[in-house]
Amino acid sequence: MDEKMIKEKIETGRAWLRTGYGKEGDPDYQTDQQLKKKQPPLVKEAMSGNVIGLPMDFEGIEAETDFLTIVNRRSSHRVYTGKPMSLKQLSYLLWCIQGVKEIRGKSYATLRTVPCGGARHPFETYVAIQNVEGLKDGLYHYLPMGHKIELLKEPADLKDFIGTSLMGQVWANKGNVVFYFSIVFYRSEWRYGIYAHRGLMTDAGHITENLYLALTALGLGGCAIGAVDGKYCDQVFGLDGEEESIVYAMPAGTVCEEDKQKEQDFYAFVKEQGL
Ligand SMILES: Cc1cc2nc3c(=O)[nH]c(=O)nc-3n(C[C@H](O)[C@H](O)[C@H](O)COP(=O)(O)O)c2cc1C
Repeated sequence: MDEKMIKEKIETGRAWLRTGYGKEGDPDYQTDQQLKKKQPPLVKEAMSGNVIGLPMDFEGIEAETDFLTIVNRRSSHRVYTGKPMSLKQLSYLLWCIQGVKEIRGKSYATLRTVPCGGARHPFETYVAIQNVEGLKDGLYHYLPMGHKIELLKEPADLKDFIGTSLMGQVWANKGNVVFYFSIVFYRSEWRYGIYAHRGLMTDAGHITENLYLALTALGLGGCAIGAVDGKYCDQVFGLDGEEESIVYAMPAGTVCEEDKQKEQDFYAFVKEQGL
């Protein structure tokens, strides 16, 4: 790529970030919501007939409850023990990142455990599961209404999928779970139209921060991943890539204190290069 093209691409990225509500200079512009067009569904329907209910009783789950302790302990984990994760732990994590607590109005919006611009909640959560008690290894989709998951596929090459989907970050394939977050674009565009897109990525951040904190509370670990091959993930999960596309991921798993040095090895280059 030549210098000119690099400069243009940088400018495109910055221009996108500068786009804020009402800044496009067209006072007559109206979004589909303002035009009273039909609202899209709040969530995606189940894609398979293989739906599994998740436990909602978190009484007695072993979890840190002191908020400052959780915040101070939070860090990224890229080394996992390979020990199993319980179904209750997975259920707790899914609840903490996308659980539906309430419906606003008759069916205007879902109110969830994370905030979201206009309560549009345009995200769908997919999970690659390996070694979670009571579940077959495979690819699943979270159904937040009713707090269920559905099994989509049982690929034989799950580890290869995880490594490739995260642009070669193969350490992630030792996690018990890899969360993949897609955006159903029109759910936000209906309300915010041409101004929707910057907000989508800010909202994505709320999900993974809740996930980091929930993992920390449970004594588990994970790492947010921006380097995701969205196109490949869309293909494998059966998403169209146009109206819905995977943009963000987070592997997570059981961790232990003894692996602290291995975690630090990921940043050995800082010392080696005298940074
Ligand atoms: C949006 C986002 C994208 C990230 N992408 C990656 C990634 O692709 N690979 C990776 O190893 N870490 C990734 N991380 C983790 C960061 O490297 C990590 O948060 C940072 O080094 C600070 O460490 P800490 O989370 O332990 O405080 C990402 C974090 C965020 C928030």
